[in-house]
Amino acid sequence: MVADNDIVVRTVQLTKTFRDFWLRERITAVRDLNLDIASGTVYGLLGPNGSGKSTTLKIILGLMFPTRGLVRVFGRPATEVGIKGRIGFLPEESYLYPFLDAYETLDYYGRLFHQPRRQRRGRIEMLLDMVGLRGSAHRRIGEYSKGMQRRIGMAQALINDPELLILDEPTAGMDPMAARQFKDLIHELSRRGKTVILSSHLLADMEDVCDRVGILYAGQLRAEGTLDSLLVRRGLTTITTESLDDQTAGQIRSILSERNKQVFSIDAPKDKLEALFLRIVREAQARRERPAQAVGTGEVAEFLRAGPEQKTRKVIEELLAGRQPPAPPSPAAEPKRDVLSPPPRRFRPIAAS
Ligand SMILES: Nc1ncnc2c1ncn2[C@@H]1O[C@H](COP(=O)(O)OP(=O)(O)O)[C@@H](O)[C@H]1O
Ligand SMILES: [Mg+2]
Repeated sequence: MVADNDIVVRTVQLTKTFRDFWLRERITAVRDLNLDIASGTVYGLLGPNGSGKSTTLKIILGLMFPTRGLVRVFGRPATEVGIKGRIGFLPEESYLYPFLDAYETLDYYGRLFHQPRRQRRGRIEMLLDMVGLRGSAHRRIGEYSKGMQRRIGMAQALINDPELLILDEPTAGMDPMAARQFKDLIHELSRRGKTVILSSHLLADMEDVCDRVGILYAGQLRAEGTLDSLLVRRGLTTITTESLDDQTAGQIRSILSERNKQVFSIDAPKDKLEALFLRIVREAQARRERPAQAVGTGEVAEFLRAGPEQKTRKVIEELLAGRQPPAPPSPAAEPKRDVLSPPPRRFRPIAAS
């Protein structure tokens, strides 16, 4: 049982009904939702499109009023202005100014939080480094790809060093390498005590980053709990061993049948598609192969090349300690690379999970 003061977000019987032009109730986007999200948790709100995830997040953020029910954030009403500085938000759709560049965007949000100029500058550089946009810091956001917009959105969400981070579909539009790195970043932020609530319709994608998940369908919570409690198939045992010849497999079957145990399957374990993709890319990188065509997103490569064990972690450490960032590598010394380009010597692969 979690102590009440460890609960960062609580909703009780939360309901949101949208009305039509004639004020007739039309859609119940969220119905009787009860959530208790404890401090330091990565909580995944999962469900197909239209299941009420964004609506729930907007109510938690105080951007939308519930029709019924209660919502508390840090023990306070969600609409209270005093708690806003403790929350970071990455919205589903980019709402950033297309004519500002990445640096100007973060500077603007830093000012909204009244950060002094010097502190702002240091933080912006660290954030740009962390999300891999240092090379595009002076390109207009309107020219960014969807994945790059997610990155700048993430940097913006972290500008005020929030305790609670709310991410609406954080990996939407990202390639698997970038999504993996984003998830490592979320994991790392959580390790450092941040509470993260994220939504996703990519259920499998979120499996390895969430501590707890709630599965929403048509506005209702259909299942809730830790991943282990939801995913373990009770009453079954898996044994993983080296490949077996038919004779050995037959012997195992007969031992088990002597003990009245039914064998449902003996087969080779399968990788997740994500693990397969990451392995293929890393093998190609290890052979220092270049892709046939340049992807042309050199600016994000710096982020992708360094594993969380190294660069991301180091940058986060500095960010949370409020220290100044290391000097940026000069563009001349660091040639631009695309996503799948050969890694530099300091590359260490990210552990696939
Ligand atoms: N402002 C709105 N006005 C009317 N209906 C809305 C509004 N926002 C969301 N909805 C409806 O509420 C339901 C849940 O939407 P949403 O919370 O965006 O789902 P999700 O984020 O899970 O895709 C959908 O049927 C959607 O059409
Ligand atoms: Mg949504």
